[in-house]
Amino acid sequence: MLTFLTRRERFNAAHRMYRQDLTEEENLKMFGKCANPNYHGHNYDLFVTVKGEVNPERPYIIDLKELKVIINDLVIEKLDHKNLNLDVDFMADKMASTELLCVEIFKLLQGPLEAYEGVFLHSVRLAETENNSAECFG
Ligand code: NI
Repeated sequence: MLTFLTRRERFNAAHRMYRQDLTEEENLKMFGKCANPNYHGHNYDLFVTVKGEVNPERPYIIDLKELKVIINDLVIEKLDHKNLNLDVDFMADKMASTELLCVEIFKLLQGPLEAYEGVFLHSVRLAETENNSAECFG
């Protein structure tokens, strides 16, 4: 039976939304408080969902300990307590939006997770606040 398995991890990071081609005033108008020049932080929740067939002979999609280690090594270590605009190589030339960060996390995880037989990365959901999250299905 095709089954989905989700692991949550958390990290906190600082960011700022702005476009270099706009003035400070225009950025504030476009992005509101998120454009504050001195950055601000979020406590992010990251939900990584893998899928695969399970049956009596194959009760797990992937070992959850291994899933945790992969997410931590490839994603959390690079983002936790970092400034998304300044410190993170794969976000260097991108706006630090929840959507774009979610896409990059999907790209980082897909290959390593799908190296496991029968494991597919279904989605990555990134929640910036309790009310706002982005989800990428690749
Ligand atoms: Ni923000």
